[in-house]
Formats: sequence, structure tokens, C-alpha cells
Amino acid sequence: MVWKAAAAIVVAALSSKVTETVNGIGLGLRYDLATEFLERRPKSVSWVEVHPENYVERGGRYAEILDLARRDWPVVTHGLSTCFGALEPADEGYLSDLRAFLNDLEVPWHSEHLCIGAANARFFHDLLPLPFTDEAVATSAQRICEMRDALDVPIALENVSYYAPEAADGLDEAEFVVEVLERADAKLLLDVNNVYVNARNFGFDPEAYIDKIPVGRVVQIHVAGHLVRDDGLRIDTHGEPVPDDVYRLLEYALRKVGPVPVLLERDNNVPALEELLVEIDQLWAIYERATGDQLAS
Ligand SMILES: [Fe+2]
Repeated sequence: MVWKAAAAIVVAALSSKVTETVNGIGLGLRYDLATEFLERRPKSVSWVEVHPENYVERGGRYAEILDLARRDWPVVTHGLSTCFGALEPADEGYLSDLRAFLNDLEVPWHSEHLCIGAANARFFHDLLPLPFTDEAVATSAQRICEMRDALDVPIALENVSYYAPEAADGLDEAEFVVEVLERADAKLLLDVNNVYVNARNFGFDPEAYIDKIPVGRVVQIHVAGHLVRDDGLRIDTHGEPVPDDVYRLLEYALRKVGPVPVLLERDNNVPALEELLVEIDQLWAIYERATGDQLAS
């Protein structure tokens, strides 16, 4: 019993140490960027995020990239394939492999999307929205609890972008996200670009959305750019520079939630690293301006 208690204290101390090291501005460690990134090893990047699907049960260059990155940066994981809106429980074999991967990396939390990405063991290769209903709240909360039990790390859900209007008689998007967070006692990966894209496409106030979020549940923020089509529709492409309005919304969110780690996502039209480091510097300026008092205290 004494040994178990001592072990629990050691584990808690180790995991809090890892959590403390994930702060400031991070960058998605994407394959297209990795070679230049790992050669330059920019000091302005404080941590990196990886998609486990690229590494679990896979060796070669991916394993080498991760190994080289871990020498200088703490790693946070963000899944793409195990969406919380799924009607069926996740594959047990994959969760077992994922648990070993996360244990090895000592991640402070693991995140997946609040959407549906597969059915009947077939992947859609897209993140499709859920109806904002109580039934979807219950299903998603159940999936989150199952994943937390299987992985034994805190679980964060990420709010997604969507392009089809929801029925008018249900919850609004922020209320739906909050309901799932509370029902599952989960953490939030707040994607401010997704909030902004949805707000502009569907005509709601993005700051009012952020006001509804329980700030203590936010463990991480995503920021990215998006495409504006000729007809005005905004598409969450992760293929453009971060626009000023999204920077402004990030600052608004950081002032509310405090100094949680912020990740720059860039997955398409990936430019030279130099260009992304300019965005990283802009993010640092916002981060320090918005959280300076809390960082100093
Ligand atoms: Fe995101």
C-alpha cells in the first residue's frame, strides 16, 4: 500500500513536470516541414504536436523524425481517426497500441475531434459534424469516457468546423460543446479558427461562443488559417496564413483562459519554415500581451 502511494506520487510528479513543459507556442510536426525544422531546431517553438496515426505501428522516417524531435521538444498528441461522435466504441487493438505510444511519450493529455469520422468500420476521411442534440451529447460523452479508461490520460475534445446548417430547435454549437465537456468531465482543445469560420459562415458572435466555454477545461488552443471562397464561404483548410481576425479572437480567448499552450496548425500549402516562424513570432507577441500578468504572477 505504502509502495503504491509512493509510486502514485512519483507518477503525479512526473506527469505534472511534463505538463509544465508544454506551454507557449508550438508547431504541428508535419512530414513536409520536418526535415528543415529538425535541421534548424528553432528556439521560438516550445513544443510540437503529432498525429499518432502517423507513428503507431510504423517505423522508418516517421519514427526517426519523432525521435529527433523528442530530444528538444515535449510532444502532445492529436488524433484524427477516433472521433467522439462515433456510434460504435473505438477499436480495442488500436487503443491498446495508442496507450503504449502515449505512455512512452509521457503526454499530458490526448485530443480527438467532437464529430463523426467513421461508421461500420469504414473511415469517411473527413470530420463530419454531429447534430447538436442530447442524444449526440450522450454518445460523445460515452466515447470520451471509454477512451479515458482505455488510455489512462486526460482526454480533450476539439471543436470542429462544419458547413451545413443545424436544426434551429436544438442546442447552439457552444452549448453542445459545453454539455459534452460537462457530461464527460473532459478537457477542451479550443480551435479558435474553427470558432471563427463557423461564426462567419452561420452568423453568430465568436466572442459570445468563447464566453460560454468553462475556462478551466481548456488545456490547449489551435490556431490556423482558412480559405475564403468567392461566394464568401469560409473553409477550414489549414492552408493559408492566420488572418488578423483569428489572431484577435485568439487574444480574446487567451485573456479569458490564461496561458494555455497554443499550436500553429499548417497542413496544406506548407510554406518554407521561415514563413511559419514569422507567424510563430506573432503568436508569441499575442501570447505575452494577453497572458503577461498571469505569467508573471
Ligand atoms: Fe484544430
